Amino acid sequence: MSAVYFDATLNEDVRRARLYSGDIFILQPTPSTEALAGLAREMLEKAFAPLDPRLLHKHKTAEEVAAVLARLKPAFIHHPECKKLIPAIMREHGEEPSKIYYDVPRLRSAYPSHFLSSGIAYAFHPHRDTWYSAPMCQLNWWLPTYPIEADNAMGFFPGYFDRPVKNNSEIYNYYEWNTKNRASAAQHVKSDTREQPKPQEALEGESLRYLPRPGGVILFSGTQLHETVPNTTDFARYSIDFRTVHLDDLVARHGAVNIDSRCTETTLRDYLSAADGKLLPEEIVGLYDDGTATEDKLLRFGDRLAVAAK
Ligand SMILES: [Fe+2]
Repeated sequence: MSAVYFDATLNEDVRRARLYSGDIFILQPTPSTEALAGLAREMLEKAFAPLDPRLLHKHKTAEEVAAVLARLKPAFIHHPECKKLIPAIMREHGEEPSKIYYDVPRLRSAYPSHFLSSGIAYAFHPHRDTWYSAPMCQLNWWLPTYPIEADNAMGFFPGYFDRPVKNNSEIYNYYEWNTKNRASAAQHVKSDTREQPKPQEALEGESLRYLPRPGGVILFSGTQLHETVPNTTDFARYSIDFRTVHLDDLVARHGAVNIDSRCTETTLRDYLSAADGKLLPEEIVGLYDDGTATEDKLLRFGDRLAVAAK
């Protein structure tokens, strides 16, 4: 069973333990999460001025929007302000930055479903991040940048946290995916043919929607089954998410239990220290290597962007 905590005052070790057992935390906005959401709004509004970024589908073609997002999203990911705000968010929530490694924050967009829901604005079907080579101790931080509604939010299936789902995650090898698919995301405007891990059975019940206000955070384990709700509202949804791992948990292999993930290799080479921005030491990543990566496939996120820019 999963519980949902609101503004919990648990210490960070207990909070992580609860997250690994399937509980979800809704966190009120803090100065740094508000600043992160504000940065995304500012960049979106500048890039699409004078239009309201939530109403682009009324004025632009899907191709025009995708072309702007292809520049805007990497600019957000690598914005120097993000490198300051994520460590600050960790401190605001009691985590010691020297123990935390994070994957760069992504800016996501979910347009009204008739408009643009593939490629660079991919609408994610139900999945666990651990079907995509995430470590079992990964935590996801998800925050909306504008007010959201049930029909343009993130959906969760907490009942499946400890219930296996038939899936084809064995098709996914993180390094193979990077080399073949990532650089071409902006080309998949109308349809997306990239093969991805998906449930191979019908899921029971509808997903639950948690609706924090802008800058508020849904904090959850990367093993939670979640989806992008098909956006049936008349407003685009923009959100930010990033992932964290705790060094002690990584080394001790603490985390959620793997009940149904069979993907290979690990995303850990993308993680940066919240204290000094350095990559995770290779000897720690090595604990999670499974021997399926070869040197020519070893690409880190910055390298992939360099490839994409060519
Ligand atoms: Fe996800």
